[in-house]
Amino acid sequence: MKAMLSALAVSTAIFAASPASAADLEVMHWWTSGGEAAAVGELAKAFDGTEHSWVDGAIAGGGGTARPIMVSRLIGGDPMGAFQFNHGRQAEELIEAGLLRDMTAIAEAEGWLDVVYPQSLLDSCTVDGKIYCAPVNIHSWQWLWLSNKAFESVGAAVPANWDEFVAAAPALRKAGLQPLAVGQQSWQTSGAFNVLMVALAGPDVLVKVYGDKDVDLAAGPELASVFAAAADAREMSQGSNVQDWNQATNLVITDKAGGQIMGDWAQGEFQVAGKVAGSDYTCLPGLGVNELIDTAGDAFYFPIVDDAEITAAQDVLAATLLSKETQVAFNLAKGSLPVRGDVDLSAANDCMKKGLEILAAGNTLPAVTQLNTEDTNNQLNDLFVEFFNDTGITPEAAQARFVDIIKSGE
Ligand code: GAL
Repeated sequence: MKAMLSALAVSTAIFAASPASAADLEVMHWWTSGGEAAAVGELAKAFDGTEHSWVDGAIAGGGGTARPIMVSRLIGGDPMGAFQFNHGRQAEELIEAGLLRDMTAIAEAEGWLDVVYPQSLLDSCTVDGKIYCAPVNIHSWQWLWLSNKAFESVGAAVPANWDEFVAAAPALRKAGLQPLAVGQQSWQTSGAFNVLMVALAGPDVLVKVYGDKDVDLAAGPELASVFAAAADAREMSQGSNVQDWNQATNLVITDKAGGQIMGDWAQGEFQVAGKVAGSDYTCLPGLGVNELIDTAGDAFYFPIVDDAEITAAQDVLAATLLSKETQVAFNLAKGSLPVRGDVDLSAANDCMKKGLEILAAGNTLPAVTQLNTEDTNNQLNDLFVEFFNDTGITPEAAQARFVDIIKSGE
């Protein structure tokens, strides 16, 4: 008996002295396209290089499908180890409900306040002075991706701006090419509308309409001209029979479509397909009109769990996501810009370099996910997917519904 007790004492001492054990951490995200999978693979590799293991929880179908599934896991009491959301207001209610960890201690230990640029990325993670998320990238919506070959094949110059693209659309159509590629996921159409708003009406209009919920501006002539441009885009998108955003990107990559308005995650698809920016395709920030990028992007949140090993692994993941090495490897694959200004991105392609220049010049605007609640954005998604699918909805009628959404927004 005595021997048994002393053996037990020894093993307890060994256990107490050993570091927190390795944990399997389930990480949920919606990165399933070719470029996205390559990028998230870099995050997994970095985390697997620690004592812990990344258990991949990818959900296909995009953020609109993934977020409700993640929320139901959380409110159903079955939290994952970590999950991706867009940085901004999407996690507000989960934070209020007390379901997510305050990561301020890690942020402080890792010096995030000194290295994260722009500061607004951390502001988006912060509620009542506490930092709840780890931002991993800056993804801007403000891009038009063009197939050089599609335009060359109809004897047209590759457009340098939105108006030139609209003017070239009939020639593409006549040649049996799809002028504008748009998929059916509803966020694609509202995203395209918001990009048109920034390019044609200017960034201040977007910030006032969404940030201040300026109803008069939403109902006024500047927005009316954006709705008229959206009707052009709708016309150009007819016949684009694809669902997912990356299928639409693929129409541009394979030169079957002239262009796509899409965030710079599209870059990851061109990269996986071995296409070269400048010669195979052209990227126009701000639709070639207003060279700006918004500070949309992705962040990871960490649910409160009653398990010290998981909690310790969450801390390690948060630190790993923002390390210099992870930031470079992940963002080069993703097509996004790093969240820290002190990393070497000399390997970036021409489009990313343009993005970095715009960022360095400070020509940025907040992302719609930072200005609107998830509820308002879902209503906008519904409006624009209907508008793009039903040519019977006049721009004026769509604008009236838009005004109602802004009026009820918070
Ligand atoms: C965005 C996200 C990007 C991206 C895209 C398409 O919400 O910020 O990282 O990949 O969805 O899935």
